[in-house]
Amino acid sequence: MAVFITGGAGFIGPALANEFLAAGYDVLAFDRYPPNDKILRAWGDRVHFVQGDIRDRDLVRSLIKESGTDPVVHLAGILTAGCDRDPDLALAVNVMGMRTVLEGAREFGMRRVVMASTIGVYGQNLPQPIKESWPTEPDGWYGVTKLMSEQMGLLYVRRHGLDFRAVRFAAVTGPGRTAGSGSASLFTSFIPEMAAKGLPYEIEVEPDVIYPVVYIKDAVNALFRLATVEQAPRRIYNIGSGRIVTSEMVAAVKARLPEAQFTYKPDPVIMSVVRGYRDWEIDCTAAAEDLGWRPAYSAEQMVDDIITTVRQG
Ligand SMILES: NC(=O)c1ccc[n+]([C@@H]2O[C@H](COP(=O)([O-])OP(=O)(O)OC[C@H]3O[C@@H](n4cnc5c(N)ncnc54)[C@H](O)[C@@H]3O)[C@@H](O)[C@H]2O)c1
Repeated sequence: MAVFITGGAGFIGPALANEFLAAGYDVLAFDRYPPNDKILRAWGDRVHFVQGDIRDRDLVRSLIKESGTDPVVHLAGILTAGCDRDPDLALAVNVMGMRTVLEGAREFGMRRVVMASTIGVYGQNLPQPIKESWPTEPDGWYGVTKLMSEQMGLLYVRRHGLDFRAVRFAAVTGPGRTAGSGSASLFTSFIPEMAAKGLPYEIEVEPDVIYPVVYIKDAVNALFRLATVEQAPRRIYNIGSGRIVTSEMVAAVKARLPEAQFTYKPDPVIMSVVRGYRDWEIDCTAAAEDLGWRPAYSAEQMVDDIITTVRQG
C-alpha cells in the first residue's frame, strides 16, 4: 500500500503522511519546499520526499508513473489570501496542478484521486447549515480555483471512471502553520500558538470575526478516511467542527496564559476574505453517515491541544 501526497511538506501534508505511515502505507511526499528538519528527522527513511513544482508536468507525470501509488492525495496549492493577491499564480498552481494530477492518474491507471477543497466554494446568503448540495458561487479566487478543480475531478469520473473524491474543509486550525501558506485563517492557529511560544501577536482581523474551523487532527482523520474507505457514496464532503469567535479565542488563551500579549491590526485583504463567513454553519451529516467521521475537538480543546503541543516542542 502506498500513497502519493502532493503538498506533503505543508501544514496538513506531514500530519496526513504520519496517519498513512501509522496505517502501514509507504509514503511518497512531493512539495516545492522541503519539510522542516523536525519533520524530516521524524520521517527518517520511511517517507520518500521529492522536491519539485506541481507546474512541472513532466516531473509530476513521471512520479505518478514510477511510484505506482494509489491513492493520490492532492494538497499542493495556494491558499485564500495568496490566491487573491496573485490570481494568475493561483490558476497556474491550483487549477493546472489539479489537471496535471488528474491526467497523470488517468494516463497511468491510478484508481483514486482525493483533493482538499474548501467551504470557500459556497456563495453568500445561503440558508444555514450549509450542505454539499447548496449553490456554489465563490466570493474569491481561492474558491474559484477549488471549484474548478472539483469540477475537473468530476469530469474525470464521468469520462474516465476515475474515483475522484474531495473534502471541503473549514479553516484548518492547529500548531505549525506558516505565514508562507497565504492563508487568511492563520489567526485561528496563531492566537494560541504565539502565546504558547511567549511571543506577542498582532491579530490580522477584528475582534468580532467569527470563522468556521476544524482542528488539524480531525481534518487529517477525515481526509484519511475518505482516501482509504472502499466505497464513498458521495464524491464531496463538508468537513468542519464549529466556529470560533476571535475575541472568545483570545479570552480562552488569556485564561490559560495570562501573560499572552495581543493587539489587533486588521489587514484589509484578510478582512475581505474572513468577513463573509460570520453566519456560516457547516453541515457535516454526510461525512458522519458515510465515513463515520465526527470531530473530536471543540474550540476550547483546540486551544488546549495547540498550547500543549507547542510546549512539548
Ligand atoms: N489549511 C486550511 O485551512 C485549508 C482549508 C481548506 C482547504 N485547504 C487545502 O488543503 C491543502 C493543504 O493546505 P495546507 O493548510 O497544508 O497549506 P500549506 O500552504 O501549508 O501547504 C500547501 C503546500 O503546497 C505547496 N505548494 C504550493 N505551491 C506549490 C507548487 N507550485 N508546487 C509544489 N508544491 C506547492 C507549498 O509549498 C505547501 O507546502 C491545500 O490545497 C489547501 O487549499 C486548506
